[in-house]
Amino acid sequence: MSGLFRVLDTVADRLVVPGYSKLGFQLRRRGWPPLLPGSLRGRKAVVTGAGTGIGKATALGLARLGAEVVLVVRDERKGAAARDEIAAAVPGAVVEIRLCDLSSSESVRRFAASLDRLDILVHNAGVLPQERTETEDGHELTFATHVLGPLLMTDLLRPKLAASSDPRVVLVSSGGMYTQRLHADDPEYREGDYRGATAYARTKRMQVALAPLLSERYAQDGIGVHAMHPGWADTPGVAGSLPGFHRLTRTFLRTAEEGADTVVWLAATTPAPRSGQFWHDRRARPTHLLPTTGETPEAIDAFWQYSTSAVGLLP
Ligand SMILES: NC(=O)c1ccc[n+]([C@@H]2O[C@H](COP(=O)([O-])OP(=O)(O)OC[C@H]3O[C@@H](n4cnc5c(N)ncnc54)[C@H](OP(=O)(O)O)[C@@H]3O)[C@@H](O)[C@H]2O)c1
Repeated sequence: MSGLFRVLDTVADRLVVPGYSKLGFQLRRRGWPPLLPGSLRGRKAVVTGAGTGIGKATALGLARLGAEVVLVVRDERKGAAARDEIAAAVPGAVVEIRLCDLSSSESVRRFAASLDRLDILVHNAGVLPQERTETEDGHELTFATHVLGPLLMTDLLRPKLAASSDPRVVLVSSGGMYTQRLHADDPEYREGDYRGATAYARTKRMQVALAPLLSERYAQDGIGVHAMHPGWADTPGVAGSLPGFHRLTRTFLRTAEEGADTVVWLAATTPAPRSGQFWHDRRARPTHLLPTTGETPEAIDAFWQYSTSAVGLLP
């Protein structure tokens, strides 16, 4: 990337709207080498929340590169529709549907036990609830879906990932996380007035904090762990959960495929990107932009202790 291009890219990023919208994607994609067709042949990828939006687009992108793809969904009909779409777009694609509710530890355990092997794990499933709800395990829903489910699933799949020659894990976070500090003192959002968008952004911040922690935990197994944000993409999730935002911005929104680009790139590019970082549009980005969101080592440790004990991970 040339010096001038780097500066323009960074300016677009800090101004948010140009960087997160399709303008940013179109500006940056000019400098990108194409991913090679067939580069994921023989590799097996698991994508959560793959029935719609960015998850479905990620599964399609991985299948286009030759990966065998497992669509993890909680709605079988959406899964079947996504599988049929991918099969139509990529003749010969191997696509499997598995039911799993990321917010349920029992469901995650059942799924992880049923999987024979994998090379790529994409934690894409996401939710933005209107009201505070708790899961059957007694955890706040966004915390369970964005943090506890992915944490438990990754750890249960660790031996299978470790058996891969180039294992990679991608956490699909959000640029909204920049507005939040790591709420290690109240991870379940029990204090104060609950706002779904705040809960969403707090748990997306936690996903970014997880990347270096998991990267370190799995370093001896060679498992790369990457967090990223897709910018703003036009998906059923955005239209349904943020109708006002969707109405205002829809002409500037990326397609789901554009939102999925960096996920697919992190899974496929060689050599593997440095583990533990936060990415957007194929470039590592800062994890903090506001002076109010910085975190102490104690907060990171408290977050890790709470989350790992909530899902019963061994130290
Ligand atoms: N679109 C954007 O602009 C944007 C921006 C920043 C970050 N993101 C992130 O990108 C990811 C995908 O979002 P999207 O925009 O593509 O929205 P979406 O279309 O609503 O996709 C989210 C998917 O997650 C699934 N899901 C939710 N809870 C689940 C659970 N407990 N177990 C299994 N699957 C579950 C949903 O399944 P159901 O259909 O059954 O509900 C849905 O298929 C999310 O993590 C989101 O935070 C998106």
